[in-house]
Amino acid sequence: MSELTYQAAQDYLTSLIPPREQVLLEMESYAEKHDFPIIGPACGYYCYQLARMIGAKSIFELGSGYGYSTAWFAKALQENGGGVVHHTVWDKELSKMANSYMLSLGCVDLVQFHVAEAVETLGKQSSSV
Ligand SMILES: C[S@@+](CC[C@H](N)C(=O)[O-])C[C@H]1O[C@@H](n2cnc3c(N)ncnc32)[C@H](O)[C@@H]1O
Repeated sequence: MSELTYQAAQDYLTSLIPPREQVLLEMESYAEKHDFPIIGPACGYYCYQLARMIGAKSIFELGSGYGYSTAWFAKALQENGGGVVHHTVWDKELSKMANSYMLSLGCVDLVQFHVAEAVETLGKQSSSV
């Protein structure tokens, strides 16, 4: 898909989702400013909807960056009545940033932070349940 078509599709999909809270908008601005790859609002809302539809209680993310996608999952868990989303990233600073964003969003209690390699952490997690 050409850049032009991609942006137009993104803009159209983003126009369909409900307004987002300020903290999510700030996280999106950070991505744009620092050229950091995040899933973006349309995909974030899609993840949120999927987690809501299946009544997810436990979510494991592989490579969570500074927590943008985590925020969408945590929002779904909150509305599902609780649970845990595992945030995994091998960079300590990104993990700290995610923690701070989750505090601002009021969902830090729903997130377990792992500063580690994601697949290895998933393996440990699966064998502990
Ligand atoms: C593309 S970003 C995605 C961020 C997140 N999904 C979002 O949309 O907000 C992926 C992040 O995961 C980290 N990462 C990639 N592979 C990883 C791995 N195997 N273990 C831990 N972190 C990883 C990268 O360094 C980067 O910070």
